[in-house]
Amino acid sequence: MSPRESGSETMSIFSPQLAARFDVLTEKYPVKRSALIPMLLYAQDEVGYLSDAVMAEIADRLSLTPLEVRNVASYYSMLRFRPAGKFNIQVCTNISCMLRGAYDLYERFQEELGVGHKGITADGVFSLEEVECIGVCCWAPAIQVNYDFHDDLTPESVPGILDRYRDKIHSDSSRNGGAAHA
Ligand code: FES
Repeated sequence: MSPRESGSETMSIFSPQLAARFDVLTEKYPVKRSALIPMLLYAQDEVGYLSDAVMAEIADRLSLTPLEVRNVASYYSMLRFRPAGKFNIQVCTNISCMLRGAYDLYERFQEELGVGHKGITADGVFSLEEVECIGVCCWAPAIQVNYDFHDDLTPESVPGILDRYRDKIHSDSSRNGGAAHA
């Protein structure tokens, strides 16, 4: 019996909406495992990171082993295996960015946030990591914050970027009548 099956019910750790989305997605591809990367991204968006339980269920849905899922996931810097802040800041320090001042930029983020590589700020708003090329080398140095790219940066850009994301939390919070939390 599959780990997701208990009696006549099929259990899922995902929301009913995401579970239904996965059902559709796995039918779309002639080879089921082709759905792996989009499933990992959607799961991470919902759960926050790729926990063992997330990878086990995805493996089960794609007839893979959890180790096969982990091996693929570990290749991609946008996928993570532990919780991150609401805004996950990835600073590229690969060659093009490095030559254009990525380490000064990264240092400034560390100073402003008071955390290092893979650290999360005490309020849970930001996490920081140093990553390999994120594919925008022509506009180096560049960073990625969740799904947003920011490029051609200097250390002086850092406070403004952080403020924009802090403002986002406040505006989300007032839109939801003060109910949103970081
Ligand atoms: S080297 Fe930084 S984006 Fe490619």
